Amino acid sequence: MFRFDVLTLFPAIFDGFLSESILKSAIALEKLHVQLHDMRGWANDKHSRMDDRPFGGGPGMVLKVDCVVPCVDAVRAMDANSGKLIMLSPQGRKFDQKLAEQFASEERLILLCGRYEGFDERVVELLEPEEVSIGDYVLNGGEVAAMVLMESVMRLLPEVLGDGDSNRFDSFSSGNRLLDCVQYTRPREFRGLIVPEILLNGNHAEITRWRMENILQRTKSRRPDLLDGVDQ
Ligand SMILES: C[S@@+](CC[C@H](N)C(=O)[O-])C[C@H]1O[C@@H](n2cnc3c(N)ncnc32)[C@H](O)[C@@H]1O
Repeated sequence: MFRFDVLTLFPAIFDGFLSESILKSAIALEKLHVQLHDMRGWANDKHSRMDDRPFGGGPGMVLKVDCVVPCVDAVRAMDANSGKLIMLSPQGRKFDQKLAEQFASEERLILLCGRYEGFDERVVELLEPEEVSIGDYVLNGGEVAAMVLMESVMRLLPEVLGDGDSNRFDSFSSGNRLLDCVQYTRPREFRGLIVPEILLNGNHAEITRWRMENILQRTKSRRPDLLDGVDQ
């Protein structure tokens, strides 16, 4: 079973995320295991402080190496597979579907969520995590970024989605690499807008051809960069 371990100072942030929809059922059906770890359990002073002022001065607080490294060591040792360690960081490699696919081929991911000014740099030097950013903007903490990563990875795990095919044609997926086609459902007509006739005629070969054309047109107009190197 695929396993996520999330190291955070604020585990309650994940409560709603893990108790709704596909994640909830994947966990209940034991297709996925998610273990939250409150890093504060590894604080080593009487005030349970995980952070301290930066050497050299400046604003904010820094997460302490002598708390974070023992925490990661302890969590790694909780499973025979020591897992792949990922540090959420705005300075990391930009997350995308390709990286999600790589991560989905692992069996255990350990997600290290920062707060404040981030981690003492020696955490990186000692643990050599893969640093991952969800985009060029700064969040208060790594928790939301960890959720983004978890949700995109779990969609790719065999048997997690109800319809085994529904992730194969997603935008950016390895089978596609382009944007997904448009979709419609009932009613056939709403406020004068009518579903394309071809989708209603039951001719699957024609529908597939129409969708392929739609994928190409849509990608060309919205993300022409994705078409580089693709035969059209
Ligand atoms: C306020 S940020 C620290 C930002 C840091 N001072 C900098 O400018 O690089 C605190 C934590 O939020 C998380 N974080 C913020 N933005 C992120 C992003 N774009 N992707 C992934 N994690 C992010 C990281 O875990 C980071 O340690």
